[in-house]
Amino acid sequence: MDISKVIIPAAGLGTRFLPYTKAVPKEMLPLLNKPAIQYIAQEALASDIQQFLMVTSKGKNAIADYFDADPALELFLKERNKTALLNELDKIARTAHFSYIRQPEPLGLGHAICMARHAIASKEYFGVMLPDDIIVGATPALLQLIRIARQERASVIAVQEVPEEYISMYGVVSIKKQFTPNLFQVANLVEKPNKKDAPSNLAIIGRYVLSQKLFKALDEVGYNQDHGEIQLTDGITQMSKDGEKVLAYKVQGNRFDVGTPIGWIKALISLASQDPYYAPHIREFLMDFNTTTSFVYNSTKNLTPTL
Ligand code: G1P
Repeated sequence: MDISKVIIPAAGLGTRFLPYTKAVPKEMLPLLNKPAIQYIAQEALASDIQQFLMVTSKGKNAIADYFDADPALELFLKERNKTALLNELDKIARTAHFSYIRQPEPLGLGHAICMARHAIASKEYFGVMLPDDIIVGATPALLQLIRIARQERASVIAVQEVPEEYISMYGVVSIKKQFTPNLFQVANLVEKPNKKDAPSNLAIIGRYVLSQKLFKALDEVGYNQDHGEIQLTDGITQMSKDGEKVLAYKVQGNRFDVGTPIGWIKALISLASQDPYYAPHIREFLMDFNTTTSFVYNSTKNLTPTL
């Protein structure tokens, strides 16, 4: 099974991160010195995917600009022996091929994914990565799914167990059969159920490997009557009814929802604490928080002119 493309729906308005997202796409939030979207691109490349179908919208041009080559900046850095600063981006530019597709109106995740259907061949399987979900672990999350999809010749959805008080924030899978501690066959999916209606504690995380049959299934389900959007979860449930084998795999790794300030702060602290350059500074700062704040206070006080 050849899986070489990933659809990245990056057209969302970012309302959970307003007012920041009024002028800057949420995908460009910095995590250390890189924007969140670069972690997504690097995970895809590490999963051996080279074709990126980025679904964007008005106000998101910074994403395309960021991944563009910049010969003037490269020359400037070369003259100063600082090209290492762009090494990772260079690798992306040399290996990945980006297509930008516009979603004219925010009509749901299923609708955004449909905007890229012309780029997917009949019988092809493709990845989907939701850029709000940053997953950090030994094996790239998308690669974990691709391996299962190839082995089982099936569509695969990433899931993680979440405590019941948070389950209504997610799409949730209803299990038909359990194969291993981490692999399940899916009966259907429910988008953001009430706590009491949730069919399991397995929440959908933003990584998928899906069959091209999804597009026909999305046509069949159409716009959801409750909120007028085309939902990906409805489409996947329909695809399973149409006969496609849909599996859920408990992905290994720490997952952060960087679409909210709290999730973003947690991701930032976690990434900084694991990075050889940032870790000593951050650990010292966190361990010595009281001393540090009193130092800031005292140094400010020292600046106060005394008579
Ligand atoms: C989307 C999906 C949902 C999934 C979640 C994971 O929801 O619709 O099924 O659980 O991403 O992050 P959103 O968070 O965009 O509302």
